[in-house]
Amino acid sequence: MSNNLLQGKKGIIFGALDEKSIAWKTALKCHEAGAQLVLTNATVALRMGEINKLAEAVNAPVIGADVTNMDDLKNLMEKSMEHFGGKIDFILHSIGMSLNVRKGKSYTEINYEWNTKTLDISAMSLHRVLRTAWDLDALNEWGSVVALTYIAAQRVFPDYNEMADAKALLESVTRSFGYNYGVRKKVRVNTISQSPTRTTAGSGVKGFDGFISFAEKMSPLGNASAEDCANYTVTLFSDLTRMVTMQNLFHDGGFSFTGVTKEVIEQMEK
Ligand SMILES: NC(=O)c1ccc[n+]([C@@H]2O[C@H](COP(=O)([O-])OP(=O)(O)OC[C@H]3O[C@@H](n4cnc5c(N)ncnc54)[C@H](O)[C@@H]3O)[C@@H](O)[C@H]2O)c1
Repeated sequence: MSNNLLQGKKGIIFGALDEKSIAWKTALKCHEAGAQLVLTNATVALRMGEINKLAEAVNAPVIGADVTNMDDLKNLMEKSMEHFGGKIDFILHSIGMSLNVRKGKSYTEINYEWNTKTLDISAMSLHRVLRTAWDLDALNEWGSVVALTYIAAQRVFPDYNEMADAKALLESVTRSFGYNYGVRKKVRVNTISQSPTRTTAGSGVKGFDGFISFAEKMSPLGNASAEDCANYTVTLFSDLTRMVTMQNLFHDGGFSFTGVTKEVIEQMEK
């Protein structure tokens, strides 16, 4: 579905690792909607080389940045503005990493040094990105920043582990920085709370297969795909949603407001 919703807009996409990534699909949709893009990821992800295929498809430069490094972020924003010949209209923060999950530590035995890194990469990084844009005055008025989150910030999903705390912090930064940026420059900041999706980060969660089919059965519309998420994100970057800010927006086929479904009950009766 091609539209011109983002015609003339310029944006930075964080987090496209491979073609399964939500950020990858979002970059394609933003390009289709007429936006000009800069792609970025951590050096280790760039070394995989996959991102160059995307860069070619959306005609965008790739600028490396570790999202926990302020010098990298400053360089990224300055180079992006140079490339665009002006300020930035939108940013996608599509980044998550849990060291304790990766290393198989359960929630009750987490390593706190790893936990500090998890919170920095997955949550405070949004503050770092917004702060860098704020200091450089890099965003245009009515700019839009979207970060991706998961409902484990509100409800317990045991195997989501420390990422639940990271997402709660991410959503809080969204509100607090959203307030400040709204007042200063009418920039809006929101999170999208996405259905479980088969990606590298998603599949790292223990029991993911069972989890994704449970969510499918618990959602009246079924699980939202990465492509659906990309389409939704385009609307949030567009001028059609100018008064939406500081929100956590559920994009999950109705999962978040469903108590139980017939399908799940039937399964329990077996
Ligand atoms: N997949 C799901 O089930 C699901 C559901 C809800 C929300 N989300 C969220 O969506 C976002 C995108 O994840 P995805 O599922 O597309 O997986 P993904 O693995 O494709 O993307 C995660 C990205 O984070 C990047 N990253 C990690 N550390 C970084 C660092 N230090 N600096 C810069 N980039 C770094 C990775 O290189 C990768 O590109 C994450 O925030 C994730 O928590 C995913």
